[in-house]
Amino acid sequence: MAPSIVLVSWMVLGLVMATSTTQVEAARAFFVFGDSLVDNGNNNFLATTARADSPPYGIDTPSRRATGRFSNGKNIPDFISWGDALGSEPTLPYLSPELKGDRLPVGANFASAGIGILNDTGVQFINIIRMYKQLKYFQQYQTRLADLVGYEEAQRIVNDALVLITVGGNDFVNNYYLVPFSPRSRQFSLPDYVRYLISEYRKLLMRLYDLGARKVLVTGTGPMGCVPAELAMRSPSGQCATELQRAAALYNPQLVQMINELNSQYGANIFIAANTEQKTNDFITNPTAYGFTTSKVACCGQGPYNGLGLCTMLSNLCPNRDEYAFWDPFHPSERANGIIVDMILSGSSNYMSPMNLSSLLALDSNTRT
Ligand SMILES: *[C@@H]1O[C@H](CO)[C@@H](O)[C@H](O)[C@H]1NC(C)=O
Ligand SMILES: *[C@@H]1O[C@H](CO)[C@@H](O)[C@H](O)[C@H]1NC(C)=O
Repeated sequence: MAPSIVLVSWMVLGLVMATSTTQVEAARAFFVFGDSLVDNGNNNFLATTARADSPPYGIDTPSRRATGRFSNGKNIPDFISWGDALGSEPTLPYLSPELKGDRLPVGANFASAGIGILNDTGVQFINIIRMYKQLKYFQQYQTRLADLVGYEEAQRIVNDALVLITVGGNDFVNNYYLVPFSPRSRQFSLPDYVRYLISEYRKLLMRLYDLGARKVLVTGTGPMGCVPAELAMRSPSGQCATELQRAAALYNPQLVQMINELNSQYGANIFIAANTEQKTNDFITNPTAYGFTTSKVACCGQGPYNGLGLCTMLSNLCPNRDEYAFWDPFHPSERANGIIVDMILSGSSNYMSPMNLSSLLALDSNTRT
């Protein structure tokens, strides 16, 4: 009997702590848009092959259950929710039937694995929530929220909320470079394609602004040529694949520039950019400095660098996920996600432009009464 009593009292304690945190911080909602790096389960509800709802995904969560997150444990939005920035429970996937009533004001996650800036990105995954649809759902969400708390309060919740958007990587790996001579690569040179992506991304960010978003964290792509999948397919020597590295090097600085332009257009720091390419490069050039034994081999997968195919129960699986920068052929491990979020919260101007998230939120609480 004794052990279960201890367990129960821990659970009660956990509940009390969770409740008090929510009361203190309940003021700020969190909305998430983008692709598999930030999807926390929307694709579980869709007929698509882009999903992470079976083991060993989620192996390092308390329940060891696969939830649809492309991680062994927490993903980037989870660390932001659980961390000092918001101190609230993680948002539910927008398609979850549990997202209703009291859960609505906490926020929602609209992200969907496989999507890109462009509608024709990820067509092979068939039934996924493309960006225009994620934004449509955000509008629908706001109507539901207004029905619950009233129009003015709903507006306030959205204006005060933190928004995260992570999209763009798939426009390269699941579009331009998906097959040799892809339609987009015949249509555009790489520099022209990057300019086109940035101009389309700009429209998405302006739409977010129109829908009431006022604090928007935008992440760049990682060093796309260095992920285990690309090493396996393009670079047996283990050097990061040149073309994808060139793509990341063109895309990320233009994204920052576009964001700076939007901020001056709106006359406020609405958007902040996170240099995920630089941070991930840091792991890749010096994995041991971050406590990783490898940044080339995925923990879960098969083939060279465990970079081929999907991560399933039949794949190789490393015993200690914390030693790997990459969990599967494309996605960072839980520990790597935590390091990326540390950068977002408190990184210097080498990583965060024009400021880190802590500074943005502090600025905001000074101006709020
Ligand atoms: C994507 O498709 C939607 C719906 O058909 C359309 O409204 C939108 O303009 C398209 N976006 C782009 C960039 O073509
Ligand atoms: C965030 O950025 C500011 C300004 O660049 C810097 O002074 C500060 O040390 C950074 N970290 C935190 C936790 O605010």
